[in-house]
Order: sequence, then structure tokens, then C-alpha cells
Amino acid sequence: MLYEDDIDAILRLKRDRNAVILAHNYQTPEIFHGVADIVGDSLALARKAAEVDADVIVLAGVHFMAETAKLLNPDKTVLIPDLAAGCSLADSITPADIALLREAHPGVPVVTYVNTSAAVKAASDICCTSGNARQVVESLGVPRVLMLPDEYLAKNVARETDVELIAWHGRCEVHELFTAADVRELRDSWPGVTILAHPECPPDVVAEADFSGSTAVMSDYVGQQKPARVVLLTECSMSDNVAVDHPDVEFVRPCNLCPHMKRISLSNIRAALELNQHEVTIDPAIVEPARRAVQRMLDV
Ligand code: 13P
Ligand code: SF4
Repeated sequence: MLYEDDIDAILRLKRDRNAVILAHNYQTPEIFHGVADIVGDSLALARKAAEVDADVIVLAGVHFMAETAKLLNPDKTVLIPDLAAGCSLADSITPADIALLREAHPGVPVVTYVNTSAAVKAASDICCTSGNARQVVESLGVPRVLMLPDEYLAKNVARETDVELIAWHGRCEVHELFTAADVRELRDSWPGVTILAHPECPPDVVAEADFSGSTAVMSDYVGQQKPARVVLLTECSMSDNVAVDHPDVEFVRPCNLCPHMKRISLSNIRAALELNQHEVTIDPAIVEPARRAVQRMLDV
């Protein structure tokens, strides 16, 4: 079989190296179902990374997720199979941008999405994910918050809270491609379809969808509500992974690929374990403030 050699080798290497593989919901099924020990959304991966007891964590996901794992479990060796697995949101903002925003909005706390570099996290007060953004914002007990860098996530959360959210102009290159016209066309073409949209989608898409939530929340929705026909407006591998557990649900599949997530493969996971590459390190000068921002989120 196509993937058998790599899967066998990875399972053996995990045992030999006392390693675990954490995989995001956007990883391809052969990774997600074939070799991962822990799967989930960004929030679940952060929580689980902190609890890992093994010596080595391989992060099958993008670079900010590996940095978060290293921040929360600094004594472990954290490997990312491809260092170029980035994120358009993480690339959209720098610590210098945050410094300017703080000057323009004195005293307003900074909430940053986990889809940011460790340096940006270090410049923030607290992090959030798409699974807890509203809770985090409201936990601060203030009337105004800088919510960075995802403009659409901020606008989608703003509809659910009385807190005034000041946004940045970052976008997820995968989710920004969905349009409200797509939603209408789906309803016309697929009668009775239930439409779930990730909160990184434009606000008019989320408004016209039936439900919105993080990748884990979307997956739970399918498991609990068991819609006869569903579309997940998010990255393509989500439907592939969720469909494996729900053969009775029809998945309609217009979706967009994340080129960063797709840099991870069985062969570079195998190479990561064989060659101990690429080890994630964080500038010691920013470790403490970055860790504090993530830990504060986990404590909410
Ligand atoms: P969640 O899995 O936290 O919903 O995030 C989606 C995402 O785009 C991660 O890169
Ligand atoms: Fe970043 Fe979007 Fe890819 Fe997630 S799907 S890693 S937010 S570019």
C-alpha cells in the first residue's frame, strides 16, 4: 500500500524515541487517522501539549502550534516536520505593530489569536483561539479590547458580545475565500444542507451559515446533530477526517486547501523522527511573557 512503509516506520520510531504526534484537524487522513496520538483544534492541541509526558513532540500542524507546544512544555524536544509551514495570520502582525497599537489605544488590553508568532504573543496580554475567543474577551471585564490579528474573527466575535473590539487587518488566506454567494449557491444546489462556517470566514458568510465554531466544535456538531447533509466551510481535510467517523452523513465538499498545513506529510514526519528535525526553539528573552499570555488563556 501507498503509505504503509511510512506508517510502519513512524509507529516504530515513536516507540524507539518515546515520541507523540499531535495533529491538527486540517492534517490529511493518513496522518490524522494513521499516525497521530492526539488530534484536535488549536485549543485542544495547546491543552494536550502541556500534558505530554513523552520525550519528543512532533507537531503535525503549522509553526505557531509547535511554538505553543514548546512554550507550554519547554523541557520536551518539539519537532516540526517542515519549518516553512507558516500561516497568513501569523505573518500579518509584528511586535512593533502591537507597540504602535498600544500607543494609539492606551490602557486597552491586547488579546491575540494563537495564530501568531511567539514574539507577538510575548507582546500581548492574553491569547485566544477560535474556540474560546468570546470567553477570553469577556473575562477581562473591560469595555474595549484590541483583538488581533484576525479581522474577521474579531468581527464575528463582536456580534456575540457587548465588548467593543478593535481589530487588525489580518486574514486567513483559506477562509477569506468563502463568500456569502457561495453559501446561497450551496443552499440552492444541495437542498436541506446544513452549513457550518469557521469563524475565520468573512462575517457575511458566518451570518448566512447555520452554525459557526472552531474545527473541534464543528466536528462535535456533526457528531451530535447528525445532519443528513452537511458542508464545512473550512480547510479541505476537515471533511475527510470527520467523514471517516460518520459514514451516514453526506459531506458536500467545496473547501479550500491550506498550503501551510499541506506541507506536512508522512514522509517528512518520518524524517523528523529519524533525523530529529526541525527542532523548535524560542528566544529566551520572550519565552516568559509569551508563555504567560498562553497560560492566562488556558486558565480562563
Ligand atoms: P481551530 O482548529 O482552532 O479552529 O483553528 C483553525 C485554524 O485555522 C488553525 O490554523
Ligand atoms: Fe493559517 Fe488559515 Fe492555514 Fe489556519 S488555515 S494555518 S489560519 S492560513
